[in-house]
Amino acid sequence: MKKKYLTTPIYYVNGKPHLGHAYTTILCDAFKRFYKLFGYQAIMITGVDEHGQKVYEAAAEKKMDTQAYCDSLIPDFTGLFEKCDVDYDMFFRTTDTSHKIKVQAILQKLYDKGDIFKDDYEGNYCTPCETFFTEKDLNDGRCPECGRGTTLIKEQNYFFDMAKYAGEYEKFLSERDDFIYPRFRKNEVLGILKKGLRPLCISRKKEKMPWGIELPFDKDFVTYVWFDALTNYINGIGYMEDEEKFASYWPTAVNMIGKDILLHHCIYWPTMLMAMGNPLPKEILIHGWWMGEGGKKMSKSLGNVIDPDEIIEKYGSSSFRFFVLRDMSLGHDGIFSMESFFKRHNVELANDFGNLLNRASHMIVKNFDGKVPAPVKKTEFCDAFVNDFVNVLSGIEPLIYEYELNKALDDIMKLIRGTNKYMEDCAPWKLIKNDRELCGSVLYNALEAVRITGLLLSPVIPKKFEEIKNIFKGSIEPELEFGKLVPGREINKAVPLFPKIETDPKKTGKSN
Ligand code: MSP
Repeated sequence: MKKKYLTTPIYYVNGKPHLGHAYTTILCDAFKRFYKLFGYQAIMITGVDEHGQKVYEAAAEKKMDTQAYCDSLIPDFTGLFEKCDVDYDMFFRTTDTSHKIKVQAILQKLYDKGDIFKDDYEGNYCTPCETFFTEKDLNDGRCPECGRGTTLIKEQNYFFDMAKYAGEYEKFLSERDDFIYPRFRKNEVLGILKKGLRPLCISRKKEKMPWGIELPFDKDFVTYVWFDALTNYINGIGYMEDEEKFASYWPTAVNMIGKDILLHHCIYWPTMLMAMGNPLPKEILIHGWWMGEGGKKMSKSLGNVIDPDEIIEKYGSSSFRFFVLRDMSLGHDGIFSMESFFKRHNVELANDFGNLLNRASHMIVKNFDGKVPAPVKKTEFCDAFVNDFVNVLSGIEPLIYEYELNKALDDIMKLIRGTNKYMEDCAPWKLIKNDRELCGSVLYNALEAVRITGLLLSPVIPKKFEEIKNIFKGSIEPELEFGKLVPGREINKAVPLFPKIETDPKKTGKSN
């Protein structure tokens, strides 16, 4: 069986998870489910990044032991992912002993090879980004990434010689157009390589920042948080533990990340892997950011922060997942507005998909004793509908492999709307009076479209898909091929799955 390994970034545990965390994790989960639908053995890991100054300071502020502080936040992350219907295979924690042992073994290997060396260091550290910058990198003395202040650090430190692998990596990139998605990001990475890579500082002096994995060759230092965190992707899939699993999954890996951590994943990570002698992941997928109303960065002070918990509580996980996967053009920034959320739900789920689910199943239950009629009568019109459906359907799987999620969802919605139009044009509610066979054939085609579009949407709305399965008495033919619905099998009437959200203030009784 073909394999696929998908990863999310591991999240800092310095506060409660937010929309950004929910989004990357849902995205990864949806792709895992698409791969499974297409016959892959697909697994995903997510987890938390527990070391580093940021977490250390957050715990200190709460006057808590750092480990106890991390432990206390884990349920917030696992709880949110559960609410988002994320089916991860492993929840990775960087404070696990086996990870720490592997990080130390990797460090020792690179040290022995001469890829890690000690030197004087002077640089500016941005704690929120956990990243070192030179004076030249800064914008008016502030972090070029997040715009916040940095701290000058002067200490002896250990460095990883990234430049040693820059040439090999540049050559690799020149031969692999599909390594980084979206493709335009590759130029950004080449631009960084062209400027030349400086050695990467990979340690922190323990007496200043003790919260990290001790360097195996110098106990006065702990490992820089990114050097530790990035290795979760290989450590979570059996590196140095289950070599067979590692060898079969790692080369299929897709590291999914947000655009703010491109440098770490597209420069640090590939050069680290090359130094270790490991293959690179198959692809790195970089998504954009969710912005608040008006296209502004979400922030508490602007009052435009979207709380995923609250939306799921009110409108359900499927509508939330549908919106974030459908509305954001993958790779670009998107604006999270409640108005667009309501529109997507009401037009596409409640109206288009909801109507399709109801009509076909209700007529079959009422007029055919709840048994799927056989498509015995064919008209040119029905053939044309099936042909068009099959044409659009055949393009969806390739779109997913290309990460064209929006186009794939556009096409799924096209199938749904096309079937609704077919029903309206054929009017089976009239046909039942004078051409029962043709009516049965039209309803077969419509229910077959329900089955296939339901399967295609299952990675996006997994919870609602379980309810869609009830129409098929709990078991649905799994083939993504038109005509596999078995005639004669019994079905149930659909219950309303996507009630319309009332947004008219006069009807909801709310003042705005
Ligand atoms: N710990 C590092 C990742 C280490 S991976 C080896 C980290 N953690 S994070 O918690 O700060 O962020 C994790 C992810 O959330 C990033 O991919 C980031 O892009 C994403 N998001 C944070 N805010 C976001 C939005 N507003 N919108 C979409 N995603 C954003 O970085």
